[in-house]
Amino acid sequence: MDMQIFRAYCSIRSFYLFRVLLLSLVALMVFTCFFVYQDKSETPSLGFWDKQMKQTQDQPVWKPEFLGEVNMHVFEDWCGGSVHQLRTNVQYPLYPHIRTTISRLAVSAGWKNYGLRIFGYLHPRYSGEYIFAIASHNNAEFWLSSDDSTKRIKLMAYLGKSGNEWAAPGEYEKFASQISQPVVLSKNTVYFFEVLYKQSEGMDHLEVAWRLNDEKSTFEVITAEYLSRYVDESNILLVENNDIPQTKASQRMSPDPVSKSAKPQADMVKADPRDFMYRIPLLNDLYLENVFPECEYYPLHIFDNETIERYDGINYVHYSSVYPNDHTRLAHEGIDKEICFYQKDETYDKGGGFGQFLKIDNRLEDEETENTNNPKWKQVFGVNASDFHAKQSDFVVNTCNRAGNIVMIKKQVMPVVEAFMSQLNKADTTRDLVLKRVLNVEKKTDDAVGSRYLLELELENTQGDLILLSKYFYALKDKNKKKNLELPTLCSPKGFYWNPDTIVHVILAVKNQGRWVMHFIKEMEKVYKATGDKNFNIILIDYNSTDIDVEKELKNANVPSYQFLRLGGAFGRSPGLQAGIDLVKDDNSILFLCDLHLHFPVTILDSLRKHCVQGKMVFAPVVMRLECGATVQAPTGFWETMGYGLIGIYKSDIVKIRGMNIKEFTDKWGGEDWELLDRILLNKLEVERLNIRNFFHFFHSKHGMWNNE
Ligand SMILES: *[C@@H]1O[C@H](CO)[C@@H](O)[C@H](O)[C@H]1NC(C)=O
Ligand SMILES: *[C@@H]1O[C@H](CO)[C@@H](O)[C@H](O)[C@H]1NC(C)=O
Ligand SMILES: *[C@@H]1O[C@H](CO)[C@@H](O)[C@H](O)[C@H]1NC(C)=O
Repeated sequence: MDMQIFRAYCSIRSFYLFRVLLLSLVALMVFTCFFVYQDKSETPSLGFWDKQMKQTQDQPVWKPEFLGEVNMHVFEDWCGGSVHQLRTNVQYPLYPHIRTTISRLAVSAGWKNYGLRIFGYLHPRYSGEYIFAIASHNNAEFWLSSDDSTKRIKLMAYLGKSGNEWAAPGEYEKFASQISQPVVLSKNTVYFFEVLYKQSEGMDHLEVAWRLNDEKSTFEVITAEYLSRYVDESNILLVENNDIPQTKASQRMSPDPVSKSAKPQADMVKADPRDFMYRIPLLNDLYLENVFPECEYYPLHIFDNETIERYDGINYVHYSSVYPNDHTRLAHEGIDKEICFYQKDETYDKGGGFGQFLKIDNRLEDEETENTNNPKWKQVFGVNASDFHAKQSDFVVNTCNRAGNIVMIKKQVMPVVEAFMSQLNKADTTRDLVLKRVLNVEKKTDDAVGSRYLLELELENTQGDLILLSKYFYALKDKNKKKNLELPTLCSPKGFYWNPDTIVHVILAVKNQGRWVMHFIKEMEKVYKATGDKNFNIILIDYNSTDIDVEKELKNANVPSYQFLRLGGAFGRSPGLQAGIDLVKDDNSILFLCDLHLHFPVTILDSLRKHCVQGKMVFAPVVMRLECGATVQAPTGFWETMGYGLIGIYKSDIVKIRGMNIKEFTDKWGGEDWELLDRILLNKLEVERLNIRNFFHFFHSKHGMWNNE
């Protein structure tokens, strides 16, 4: 049992409401705590209890009439959007402009340039594991104690550091930090909490929600029945501030717990279980034999015309959607450019903006006091958890190049995972596998066919070994389907699979880009070192570079294999790549038509293998284009949704579509990628398109490139 749970459990104390209960339980508690301590071979001293009692006595005496509301302090006329800025206000935290109460953790005063400090107690209805979430415009923090003491609060969730970040009402999953880790709460304990909020301009709102940590619960705003005040401030003079809690959250002095760096943080660069999937051994296909019925392969969104206008192909490409949130959405800069993300929501787009998602509770209007600048401080509202992510269109969205991948919501995904587990468990041989984690799910839907899923699940066998399932399934459209509630039936599409041993040839054509060639080689060494993946080969076509000896550098590189070819004449990307394609003799290997100036995630090779299916599908990964000065640690920029220069395709398929167009694209540069895409579509191959986490294109000018001597 960890310390936090232990404390939560042991800390029912002299709270009015629970005094009677406490007396009857105290003997049992002491015994249990003692027992737990014995387990940890740390004997509790009596001082432990003494100290706890003393701390509680410092806090105002709680009364049952405190239930149903929490305290709120307002700090007005203070610009800036970050909580750090609230903490720097000279009158914070002891001299708020307004001391009032609210009945729900969802407030919107319709005001600007103010800060809020909300505090009180939380009374959970059930004992169990909870997850908290916060959404706001602009920044906010939610702090929770492990019991009723103000001394033991911890930051659970927050939105933003720099002041620019914001979320729409009910949008709890814009930033990873908005959602807390699961925390065990007991219905027999009350918990002190604090919310700090800073609004600058725009539509103000702040809401804190919770849910039980299970697959079925959804986030709901914390309402009156689970709240109580910390102190009665109804008849208080301005200078009476002895009872204002001074805590780790409220402190105005450094170190500021959140704002160590005011730089916007991209969630994408934080580790994700997906990044380490390659370390888990793959489930043997034999294991699944006869478990899932085989079905025909049906192409999704196949291009259905014998002709195509040049460069029209980009309009026929569809994105897949992913789960869980892969944080490819570039929300961290908090700028207006991302509004197009919300415009994919029909309700939003039809007008009304974000305000329509708030249902203002009008009952309070009569109670408003006259002696404040803004009579709406007590205004609370209702809001549902939003699913803007799931509403993104799967068409190419060229205008919204910060939106990242479409993220499915849990409700859409879990029935498919359940269907997989249930079909698996029905088969005798496989009874011993249990689901540990959903690592990654990708979905593509074609209304004419149904949905295809790439299911990537972490499973565990009875020996405790982790096993990775990474396999395509179809959930075919069921014409006879009556109810939506039934689990889908998964089948295994004939010939639609990926193989971790498939060779990947990374093909590049270069001329006098010595520093970037060195960078590319380092990147490939990085991938090899991390994954130990021997099944790849670098093919470098060099237009007689004079700045470095490309061949020598390749020879010295720590990569499993390479091929080198020197060409004369003027640089041409298309003829260069074609020369590389021609070097590959094995029809059953994958070619990655690549470029310089890239930063690769170490998972790139498996990503290519998963999304290239021989005779059926090619992969056009989207790279994030970094702005000038941006780094892979602090990336700013946009997804290169218009670029198709990076293509993964089987050798047999590129032969079938007759390779690069070297007649029209000789030494020209640009356009060759769109033309290739046109022919891929004309040849009835599917195009898989996803934004790839931590796949970056570095900023560079055209100065000194290729033929610019
Ligand atoms: C096929 O493409 C041509 C030329 O782009 C277009 O005129 C025609 O309408 C298309 N046919 C269908 C069935 O979409
Ligand atoms: C939340 O969703 C429910 C069910 O769809 C709906 O009845 C309710 O009005 C919604 N509440 C708000 C505040 O939008
Ligand atoms: C490369 O350049 C050198 C010197 O500039 C020249 O001698 C050689 O023939 C060139 N190689 C090719 C393949 O064109």
